Amino acid sequence: MHDLIDAARGVQSAAHVPYSEYAVGAALETEAGEVFVGCNLENANYSNSLHAEEVAIAEAVKNGHREFARIAVSSGRRDGVTPCGMCRQTLAEFCDDELLVICDEGDDEPPTKYTLGELLPNTISEETLE
Ligand code: THU
Ligand code: ZN
Repeated sequence: MHDLIDAARGVQSAAHVPYSEYAVGAALETEAGEVFVGCNLENANYSNSLHAEEVAIAEAVKNGHREFARIAVSSGRRDGVTPCGMCRQTLAEFCDDELLVICDEGDDEPPTKYTLGELLPNTISEETLE
């Protein structure tokens, strides 16, 4: 688990955060154990900003992966950042309720763990639209 958190911490140095100065890193692990990372990329038109989880999932999906086991998220402040509502829904498009969401609380605290189902119950999904 700490390897995944380290990956989420490591990618924060690539974050583009001139507006919030709040760097976020995400490390998404496939069922097979491959890890894809993403960081937030802000935009002068704030609403165009990309979130770390979105960038990580895009990287994984464009490389052909659709089965995920865990995601670690970390902010530069190590404050236990959790995926925002939009990122929860984006994760739910590709991950099931059992996805483990690991939130970095810094070196002095154990990480907080949730399942995606806990963070986003009763999700709208492909089945909803059938
Ligand atoms: N942020 C993420 O990258 N992921 C989240 O789900 C929470 C928020 C980013 C967006 C923005 O660049 C900064 O954190 C402050 O909201
Ligand atoms: Zn988000």
